[in-house]
Amino acid sequence: MTPHIKAKKEDIAKFVLMPGDPLRAKVIAEKFLQDVRLVNDVRNMFMYTGYYKGIRITVAGSGMGCPSIGIYSYELYKFYDVDAIIRIGSAGSYKADIDLYSIYNVKEAYSESTYAKVAAGIDSEVIEASRNLFETINETAEEKGQKILSGRIHSSDVFYREDSSLEFTIKHNLDVVEMESFALFTNAITTKKMAACLLTVSDNLITHKETSADDRQNNFMGMVELALESVLK
Ligand code: ADE
Repeated sequence: MTPHIKAKKEDIAKFVLMPGDPLRAKVIAEKFLQDVRLVNDVRNMFMYTGYYKGIRITVAGSGMGCPSIGIYSYELYKFYDVDAIIRIGSAGSYKADIDLYSIYNVKEAYSESTYAKVAAGIDSEVIEASRNLFETINETAEEKGQKILSGRIHSSDVFYREDSSLEFTIKHNLDVVEMESFALFTNAITTKKMAACLLTVSDNLITHKETSADDRQNNFMGMVELALESVLK
């Protein structure tokens, strides 16, 4: 047990899929896993463990932002011996031509967050996903004939900005924005574990197109399947 997770050590699998929303963790677990059990409900941060095609997997909510995923991913790596976490989240697009529902495999996360420096003494604005896991996901997508994008993304600390200029996205070569991968990747480096991040575009900051909560629930499943099939490798 940790301050934030009450599961027994053996209740958590070596591979974890991590959506931001704990209720999405429930939907994913019920849809894709067999013999599912709820293993954590502290603060309603639901975590479920079950089997996908015979492989034991935990689906765990992370909450929003680097501080929240920083806590849960660190505890899972450090105290539950988790080997790999794939975040499965949503993203806003900074490019008019990156459509809603595009799937993005994050190669590296740029952030204004101090998380890496404070948590791990890493003085860099850019932290990479675990190379092997990133490449496994790309290969799995190719084998499935599933078109995905990949590259550098913005892992932001701020959802609402007074200054709406997107100049910095050009300077730093950023395609889409989310709020968690920078801390997840940092924790994987510190604990010598693996992390990757898949994102489905839920809104476009240029065209202002956006998805509804129901649309997201249904259309994010392509990303979930890709994450699960990648774990099988
Ligand atoms: N996740 C989904 N859309 C986002 C946005 N516009 N900003 C930050 N994180 C997001």
